[in-house]
Amino acid sequence: MTSNRRDWLKQTTFAALGLGVSLRSLANEEGLPRQFGSELGIINLGSNENPYGISPNAKKAITDLLGEANRYQYNIAGLKSFKKEVAAYYKLAPEQVLITPGSGEGLNLAARYYTGGNIVVGDPTFMILPRTAKAIGTKVIEVPLTADKVHDLNAMLNAMDDNTKLVYICNPANPTTTIVKTDALKSFCEEASKKAVVLLDEAYMDYADPTETQTMLPLIEKNPNIIIMRTFSKIHAMAGLRMGFIAAHPTTIEKLGADLFSNTQFCTSSIAQIAALASIKDEAHRNESRIKNAAARKYTIDELKKMNYNVANSHTNFLFFQLKNFKGDFAKEMLDKHNILLRSYERADGNYCRVSLGTIDEMKQFMKVFKEKNA
Ligand SMILES: Cc1ncc(COP(=O)(O)O)c(C=O)c1O
Repeated sequence: MTSNRRDWLKQTTFAALGLGVSLRSLANEEGLPRQFGSELGIINLGSNENPYGISPNAKKAITDLLGEANRYQYNIAGLKSFKKEVAAYYKLAPEQVLITPGSGEGLNLAARYYTGGNIVVGDPTFMILPRTAKAIGTKVIEVPLTADKVHDLNAMLNAMDDNTKLVYICNPANPTTTIVKTDALKSFCEEASKKAVVLLDEAYMDYADPTETQTMLPLIEKNPNIIIMRTFSKIHAMAGLRMGFIAAHPTTIEKLGADLFSNTQFCTSSIAQIAALASIKDEAHRNESRIKNAAARKYTIDELKKMNYNVANSHTNFLFFQLKNFKGDFAKEMLDKHNILLRSYERADGNYCRVSLGTIDEMKQFMKVFKEKNA
């Protein structure tokens, strides 16, 4: 594609989307939708999506259901027990589940619900919850991660006070890729939940090694102060379909649900629902994604380590590391000059890069550019 055509496409694409923002700000804030990324010749390593696509079974289920897209979900026989089936897969009861269009909506919902005090989060962490909380006037107490970029559980416990409504742990963590070990996290949940709600964001749990960290889903059975968020946007590769859920004790689900819809399944499409049902049954698709992700991860970490970058041992489908030499906005430069979309963070102790793990070919292209820059 010629650069003129590329520039024209960039402009018209964003004009058509009605987005009065520069490419740079779009990349920083929201990531760039993949289809536009490929269309523009951009390698999209910015939003931690699954680059290998949805399960073939989900694709077929979507195609088969299209003829019924004129019907509401509750009029489609195969979707009547949607929530029950999703719950059953995760060994939950339907009353313990609130369906949400992606977990981002769940995080916003939690921010809207737990107001009138403060919330405690790691720093850095995934920003939807703290950003929404701040926007509506909730005090956000940010607790620095440890030197190894892991949630500092003791410090977070100490930061909680009588006004703390909620503490947020992203495990595995975004943007830092680290985990908190199962036992330590369990003890933390038990302790912290005596004082406030503990919200565990498990968006990347399917990528984690279960010998290192595990879901806290079993804790919700007896403890109304534990909330878990899950999404189909990551290993299920359904980011554009918008599907996720909140898991919690039925009393908590009832309270949160009142803020959303009487029947939360209404807020997700029949297409997303049928795809989710097919996807949870396709263990082979998840395994294949995990294997390919591990290979891309190993390749990229090995290459970065050869260049003496200190890369955290990622438990996710992205990497996080400190840049050595780069001053300024690294993400902007990578996008503007090299057509590679990623995230960078200018923090007090230096510049950091967060790069999603694309296909091995995409990572080779990323490394080729990165070696030349030696950023
Ligand atoms: C930690 C974490 N939680 C939640 C989300 C929200 O994802 P979605 O709204 O697509 O489920 C993301 C997306 O990147 C994430 O990284």
